[in-house]
Amino acid sequence: MPINYTLDFTQWVAVQQQRIEQVLDSTLPSASNCPEALHSAMRYSALAGGKRVRALLCYATAELCGTEIQVADAAASAVELIHAYSLVHDDMPCMDDDDLRRGKPSCHKQYDDATALLVGDALQSLAFTVLSKPQLCANSAQQLAMVHLLANASGSQGMAGGQAIDLSAVGQLMSQQGLAQMHRLKTGALIEAAALLGAQNGSPEQVASVKNYAQNIGLAFQVVDDILDTEADTHTLGKTAGKDANNHKPTYVTILGLNQAKALANTLYQAAIDALQPYGKNAQRLHELAIFITQRRF
Ligand code: IPE
Ligand code: IPE
Ligand code: MG
Ligand code: MG
Ligand code: MG
Repeated sequence: MPINYTLDFTQWVAVQQQRIEQVLDSTLPSASNCPEALHSAMRYSALAGGKRVRALLCYATAELCGTEIQVADAAASAVELIHAYSLVHDDMPCMDDDDLRRGKPSCHKQYDDATALLVGDALQSLAFTVLSKPQLCANSAQQLAMVHLLANASGSQGMAGGQAIDLSAVGQLMSQQGLAQMHRLKTGALIEAAALLGAQNGSPEQVASVKNYAQNIGLAFQVVDDILDTEADTHTLGKTAGKDANNHKPTYVTILGLNQAKALANTLYQAAIDALQPYGKNAQRLHELAIFITQRRF
């Protein structure tokens, strides 16, 4: 993907968001295909909503590293499908029990618990269907490594593992180190995967920088999510504000307090920017995305 300097950041975001929406729309089975209710619920949960930060990161690293557009599309949509599945399950009564997601009733409220469970299962499988598409990459070993990377980032040593720690931490005291580990897994792992999958054609130095950037901005992402849970309102967030306190979750706000949590987000932002230093203007989108992630209001 070539770098397009003619667009400002807002325009670039709009173009990439539209692009990922179209890719997901054509990837998800039609709601008129059997089983209709499941397909309708999958489309309900995966389309028309969300900031698409993971897709944006993937497209930005693809631009930096010259990764082919069809590879970037597959990677970006696969990560967004895993992310959408994680949100559907995260909202279920047995997890965070949240009725609102992306400004709409959560999947299990709009449909029912069993459907939400299956939506998560099916979105996860679809992510791997997309990424394992025959001949997606000229180099099949490289494609297998991409599948491996996303599987690891999603599983018990990635997102799902972080979610397990999150649930077991309810009402518990946690060290800052323990909290960082939980956040790195439940949120950081998929963000890192998005950035690395986009960086497929990068040199070893570029990939190392992207990884360093993504690890810092991935943790910052969840620090900001914790802050917004206490500072933003439900309408702006599109999900229930104050949920962490209601659910007795340890967060950066409960452990450090608001001011120190904000300072940490800033330190992580700075570390992410430092990792891009060798790439100057070529890393402009990643720089802008780091600002977007840490300054966002929802
Ligand atoms: C919310 O992620 C869940 C976390 C991992 C913190 P996002 O804030 O990226 O949610 P959407 O995709 O924009 O709805
Ligand atoms: C969720 O973290 C991380 C996921 C893997 C979905 P949160 O539980 O804080 O996410 P929100 O605030 O409900 O979006
Ligand atoms: Mg949660
Ligand atoms: Mg939640
Ligand atoms: Mg949250």
